[in-house]
Amino acid sequence: MAASMTRVWQMAPSLVQCRSLHITLGLEKAKTGAEQLWLTRQQRDPYVKAAHAQNFRCRSAFKLLEIDKEHKILRPGHHVIDCGAAPGAWSQVLVDKVNSLEQDPAASVGFVLGVDLLHITPLDGVVFLSKCDLTVPATQEKIINLLPCGQADVILSDMAPNASGIRELDHQRLISICLSLLDFSETVLRTGGSFLCKLWDGGESNLIRDRLRQRFHYVKTVKPKASRTESAEIYLLAKLHKDTTYK
Ligand SMILES: C[S@@+](CC[C@H](N)C(=O)[O-])C[C@H]1O[C@@H](n2cnc3c(N)ncnc32)[C@H](O)[C@@H]1O
Repeated sequence: MAASMTRVWQMAPSLVQCRSLHITLGLEKAKTGAEQLWLTRQQRDPYVKAAHAQNFRCRSAFKLLEIDKEHKILRPGHHVIDCGAAPGAWSQVLVDKVNSLEQDPAASVGFVLGVDLLHITPLDGVVFLSKCDLTVPATQEKIINLLPCGQADVILSDMAPNASGIRELDHQRLISICLSLLDFSETVLRTGGSFLCKLWDGGESNLIRDRLRQRFHYVKTVKPKASRTESAEIYLLAKLHKDTTYK
């Protein structure tokens, strides 16, 4: 039982969360009791049902919708980097929020750039960099070249490494991805811009919080309702990026 549970949780996070839209197929394939249990839970999840009904690629769309509803980080005309974008649900939300398809002719037109280690199925209104590691300089250079004026108003990260099942190790790996993104944000995030990153909460979370407090005027920990209560997942939201020109 324990071994099979580990196997379920070791699936890539994007697959774990996003395969949920295909649970009927999954249930047919579920081999162990633990897998069956997990898939049944997915089937009952209201966010999975809502994602399906609203044509979102993944239930995580509701996390971003909820965070934005409460904290107002996105608006038409914004240039946004969606880090860890696969399969593309946050990008779907962004197309609408920043008006990248000019669906509102009276509003400013934004730009969405999604990046992921995995392949991302194309989506109108989004430029995707598939199969790219955001922590490597070559990817970061591509991002700068693709961004209009090389600058972003908002950087979002839902990035998560494949979970090992060892909580402390997974926490550390995600912290190091976030630190790398924070360094990169100093180059591309405009003064006054916003930054949102996912963490698996743990001993090093304060390291990221402290770094954010040095660089932003406002920092808050958020846990949207769509994020499962039993998950260590939290988001750190930082607004009003300080002017670092004179530092
Ligand atoms: C939870 S999923 C993101 C779901 C996405 N926000 C959505 O709504 O569709 C996490 C993603 O982070 C990606 N990821 C993890 N480490 C990464 C890295 N170093 N560079 C780019 N993407 C990464 C994974 O490949 C995975 O697809």
